[in-house]
Amino acid sequence: MEIPKSTKAWLLPAYNFNLIRALISLKIEEIPLKTLAENEVLIEVEAASINPSDLAFLQGGYQVVKKLPAVPGFEATGLVIAAGMNQRLLIGKKVSCFSQDEYGGTWAKHLITSADNCIIIDDSLSLYQAATLAINPLTAIGMMEMAETQKPEALLINAAGGVVPALLRLLAEKANLPTINIFRKKAQADALSNSSFHFSLCSADESFEEDLKIILSKYKSICAFDAVGGSQSGLIFNYLPSNSQLIVYGGLSNENIGDIDVLQMIFQNKKIVGFNLNDYIRNGNMDLNRKKVLDLITETKFQSSVQAEFDFEDLVKAIRTYIKNMSAGKVLIKMK
Ligand SMILES: NC(=O)c1ccc[n+]([C@@H]2O[C@H](COP(=O)([O-])OP(=O)(O)OC[C@H]3O[C@@H](n4cnc5c(N)ncnc54)[C@H](OP(=O)(O)O)[C@@H]3O)[C@@H](O)[C@H]2O)c1
Repeated sequence: MEIPKSTKAWLLPAYNFNLIRALISLKIEEIPLKTLAENEVLIEVEAASINPSDLAFLQGGYQVVKKLPAVPGFEATGLVIAAGMNQRLLIGKKVSCFSQDEYGGTWAKHLITSADNCIIIDDSLSLYQAATLAINPLTAIGMMEMAETQKPEALLINAAGGVVPALLRLLAEKANLPTINIFRKKAQADALSNSSFHFSLCSADESFEEDLKIILSKYKSICAFDAVGGSQSGLIFNYLPSNSQLIVYGGLSNENIGDIDVLQMIFQNKKIVGFNLNDYIRNGNMDLNRKKVLDLITETKFQSSVQAEFDFEDLVKAIRTYIKNMSAGKVLIKMK
C-alpha cells in the first residue's frame, strides 16, 4: 500500500465559546503527514466519534489546548498502515484509538498517534463499538475502581442517559451495587424502570430535591459520579450520607460547582475528587487496561445505540444532530 504524505482533515482556526460559531468556522483542508517517531503509527481512519469533550475542545473549554489551526476529534477506529521502528508489528492491524496530542486529531482521513493509544481489535466488534472503545469504557472502569476502594452501599449517577452512565450501570450490576440515576428529561427517567437495582429521578420534577433526599437517606455510604457540575453537584453533595464521595468527571452544565455545605465537608467525612482518564492511563498498565476494556465489552456485549452516521464532508451536520439529543446515542463520522 502506498503511504500518503498528506491527508484531508477538518481544521479548527480558532476556539469559540459560542459552539455554533466554532462549527461554522470548521474547514476541510489537505494537511501534511509528518515522519513517524519510533513509537507512532499512521492510521487510515474508518470512523470517528463525537463526545462531549470534543465540543468543549472546540469551545476552548477543555484541558487539551492545541496550537491553532488544529485538527479536532479525540477518538476513532481504523487500520494501521505504517509504523515507526518499534511498532512494525502493528501494521495491518485494526485498532480503536484516541489522541489528545498536539499533532493528532481524529476528524481526519489519517491520524498519527502513539501506539500506546491503540487497542488492537478484531472483526467481532461492530463499527460503533470499535469507534467508541478507547475513551468511555476505560473511564467507567477507572471510576468504578475508585468507587470500590470506598466500599459504598450504592452509586449515584447523573447525566444518566449517556454512555459512561450506561457502562457504570453494567459495572454496578457486576459489583451488586444499586444505582440512583438522575436524568434531566422525564421520558428518559421513565424508560429506566425503577427496580430494586436501578432507581431513576428526573431533575425537572418539582419534587426532585425531596425525592433525592429520601432516596439518598436509605444508604449509609454512597459514591456519586458527577458529569454535570453547577448547583446540581452541590445539591447532591449536601444530601449524600456521611462517608460518601462525589467523583467529578465532567462539566456538562458549563458551571462551577456551587453551594457545598462546608460543615458537612469538615465533620461528615465527605469527599469531592476529580477523575481524569489521562491520569488513570498514565498511572496504570496499558496492556492490562486494554484487557479490562475488551473483557468488559465481550462479557456484557455492550452496544449502545448509534443515532446516525454521517460522511466525512457532513461533520457539521453530524455535530448538530448529536447536540440536539445526546441521549439518543453517539453519532459517527465515516471517512470513506
Ligand atoms: N474525566 C474524564 O476523563 C472523562 C472521560 C470520558 C468522558 N467524560 C465525560 O463524561 C461525560 C459523559 O460523556 P458520555 O460520552 O457518556 O456522554 P453522551 O453519551 O454523549 O451523553 C451525554 C449525556 O449528558 C446529558 N447532558 C448533556 N448536558 C447536560 C446538562 N447540562 N445537564 C444534565 N445532563 C446533560 C445528555 O442528555 P440530553 O440527551 O438531555 O442532552 C446525555 O444523556 C461528559 O461530560 C464527558 O466529557 C470524562
